[in-house]
Amino acid sequence: MSQSRNPIKFAYWVPNVSGGLVVSKIEQRTSWDIHYNRRLAQIAEEAGFDYALTQIRFTAGYGAEYQHESVAFSHALLGATSRLKVIAAVLPGPWHPVVLAKQIATIDQLTEGRIAVNIVSGWFRGEFTAIGEHWLEHDERYRRSEEFIQALKGIWTQDNFTLKGDFYRFNDYTLKPKPLQQPHPEIFQGGSSRAARDMAARVSDWYFTNGNTVEGIKAQIDDIRAKAAKNNHQVKIGVNAFVVVRDTEEEARAVVQEIIDKADPEAVRAFGDAVTQAGKASPEGEGNWAKSSFEDLVQYNDGFKTNLIGTPRQVAERIVALKAVGVDLVLTGFLHFQEEVEYFGKHVLPLVREIEAEQQQERVAA
Ligand SMILES: Cc1cc2nc3c(=O)[nH]c(=O)nc-3n(C[C@H](O)[C@H](O)[C@H](O)COP(=O)(O)O)c2cc1C
Repeated sequence: MSQSRNPIKFAYWVPNVSGGLVVSKIEQRTSWDIHYNRRLAQIAEEAGFDYALTQIRFTAGYGAEYQHESVAFSHALLGATSRLKVIAAVLPGPWHPVVLAKQIATIDQLTEGRIAVNIVSGWFRGEFTAIGEHWLEHDERYRRSEEFIQALKGIWTQDNFTLKGDFYRFNDYTLKPKPLQQPHPEIFQGGSSRAARDMAARVSDWYFTNGNTVEGIKAQIDDIRAKAAKNNHQVKIGVNAFVVVRDTEEEARAVVQEIIDKADPEAVRAFGDAVTQAGKASPEGEGNWAKSSFEDLVQYNDGFKTNLIGTPRQVAERIVALKAVGVDLVLTGFLHFQEEVEYFGKHVLPLVREIEAEQQQERVAA
């Protein structure tokens, strides 16, 4: 097991798409507009969050009807903050690596090294069809993403870069200026399938996975880290969680129950159908949503499964338990983002740091 000695990091999902993070008609005091999001980024930075993750959607069938583009939106959030790093999600296909490499190098220069990218391989056939994008088979999507990442790294770190790939070709290309961050801006990637994990074990700096139980997450991490070690590669792990912290566990559980009771069944089923295409289509049937129930799908990245639902102490202890199986970052979603991110910063994060410090002292004493 590879528990990091570093403090566990925190990210939040940027609500740059409408409808919040749950497919439910419950009241969500969260807005996808820029004013709300600028303030949220400032609150998160103040609360001790390290990263904000934007989402990329060109179209969506589960209530996320309006979507701001992720790279432009990330830059706006960076302009409103001074320490927070913002991860811009991008989809190979619509983006060519040379465009992204140049955009990100410029944003990195403008923000003194606070931009990162999340390479999304795609799961929604309807979206690809709507924008005239060729729908590759599941594992082919990852083969393209891997080449995309190799191209990004090559452009960012080498002069006279050449790549003769199946998807991308470069001839003696030199990007100037290069990004400020060394060796390059961090590269995140999401997924659960065999192909997603294998790609992470070869080329990504960070692997994001859907919510899961501690045991489920441990199995994924052990698999990825064993493979990465063989490849002489290091990869950090981020796990999604929909966080509901209240004064009592009963209150927190009641909120989740209400979210599920008020779920929009049609939208959840439409989403379920779309992800079946993506997840179960992976050859081994282990894709992101292959085992998700109706209740799980109400939070569209299985965030309830991680069980960060309860009192501040319960949630802090569960976060440290995730760290113990090798998690480096928790990616959080909330019902009422601004108020709950602030609450999390005041009541949960200090407890996490306390428990981490106690464990550190125990290690030193042992
Ligand atoms: C944390 C996280 C963030 C993601 N963000 C996006 C996104 O913004 N847009 C998108 O279309 N897909 C997004 N995805 C989907 C993945 O990139 C990938 O297509 C999906 O997880 C399919 O995984 P599979 O190979 O395990 O089936 C995200 C996945 C995770 C785990």
